[in-house]
Amino acid sequence: MIARELNEGVMTLRLDRPAKKNALTEAMYDDLSEGLNAAAADAAVRAVTIAAAGDDFCAGNDIADFARGLPRLQAAADIEDLPVFRFLKALTFFEKPLIAAVQGQAVGVGVTMLLHCDLVAAADDARLSLPFLKLGLVPEAGSTLLLPRRIGHQRAFAWMALGETVAAGEALEWGLINRVVARAELEETASGMARRVAALPPNALRRTKGFLRDGEALWQVVRAEGEVFRDLLFSPEAQAAFAAFMNR
Ligand code: COA
Repeated sequence: MIARELNEGVMTLRLDRPAKKNALTEAMYDDLSEGLNAAAADAAVRAVTIAAAGDDFCAGNDIADFARGLPRLQAAADIEDLPVFRFLKALTFFEKPLIAAVQGQAVGVGVTMLLHCDLVAAADDARLSLPFLKLGLVPEAGSTLLLPRRIGHQRAFAWMALGETVAAGEALEWGLINRVVARAELEETASGMARRVAALPPNALRRTKGFLRDGEALWQVVRAEGEVFRDLLFSPEAQAAFAAFMNR
């Protein structure tokens, strides 16, 4: 459910589960981390683009998968043994440029993964939402560090707490997105961005990205949020929210 293709030094990892709005399952997290790790190890890959098939970028973690994965979550000695955290680790420490192409709905991890991307192109129909608190959960993927840094505490808190949907134009104004284009131009815009960075001297680019992000510090936050997130998944609030979604 993650299609992988390599073209002119750019690896595209495409979420490909449009019937479920590209909600991410454990198998998809595994495919994504394998893709990122393969891209990291292959000198022919100079940049990675995360894109999505269909009308929507990603409806967040698959809610049914949350329920199915609970026994594994409980049993995991270390959260790094879980597919989602293997993906977040690969994302956190990814040294090559990461580009995202976002259309339609982006929810939960579909938004927080964008905070790890270096360039983000969005279609004008993109809508971003962070429903974690409504679900009885905490924001994840290092977003409690990255988001306020990017957009300021007030906006970050209001967005996380009130869970309102942010439209592409507003996200552009806030500095979360580099360019907003018509839906039909999204792919070409994102590939143009990716090709341009793929043509830069890779070593200087890697060092530059290294100065711009402190992966080790970020990973400590991802882990800390992850421990709380895991506990909260078992809370009555989260259980009730998942049941309500599944029984709509
Ligand atoms: N997990 C599992 N399935 C999901 C999903 C998710 N996160 N998001 C969407 N789907 C499924 C729906 O169950 C539906 O499946 P069905 O056709 O078999 O019934 C299909 O994808 C289409 O979604 P639908 O809800 O009908 O589309 P919509 O346009 O009315 O609403 C969303 C789109 C994204 C607003 C809505 O699906 C939603 O709120 N999803 C949950 C988002 C979420 O809370 N994610 C977890 C964050 S931690």
